[in-house]
Amino acid sequence: MQGTRNVKEIGEGQEMSSKGAEADLYLEEWFDKKIIRKYRVNKEYRVPELDKKIREFRTVREARLLHDAKRAGVPTPFIYEVDLPNTTIRMEYIEGPTIKNILGETSKELREKLCLQNWAADWKAAQP
Ligand SMILES: Nc1ncnc2c1ncn2[C@@H]1O[C@H](COP(=O)(O)OP(=O)(O)O)[C@@H](O)[C@H]1O
Ligand SMILES: [Mg+2]
Repeated sequence: MQGTRNVKEIGEGQEMSSKGAEADLYLEEWFDKKIIRKYRVNKEYRVPELDKKIREFRTVREARLLHDAKRAGVPTPFIYEVDLPNTTIRMEYIEGPTIKNILGETSKELREKLCLQNWAADWKAAQP
């Protein structure tokens, strides 16, 4: 678990760091910061005009959702740039393993403990 990384570090060139359901993600240096460049890719099966609109719409929607979630207290990555013509978002790089990885690699006992802890914290915060 210690060695598990969220995305693959890139060296020279433009090797992809991670592939999402709809986007290619690159871990890059940007103004001296490590950032994620998330590029929403085109889908060949869509009519091109519609494809562009869908990708633009979803790029904007993702930025809004990240922003709204942050305002609601969820620790989401900071957005540095929304590049709409290129359906790209540049955002803060979050280091470390994903919850999915952690849950997949720990014992059943620890998994239960982690989930119950979170549940307890959520429940406590919701009390009047
Ligand atoms: N800001 C980030 N910092 C670090 N890793 C990230 C970041 N955003 C996404 N990732 C990694 O890339 C994966 C795919 O990104 P995701 O946003 O889920 O793409 P998609 O919307 O195409 O499904 C995530 O599961 C996560 O591991
Ligand atoms: Mg995803």
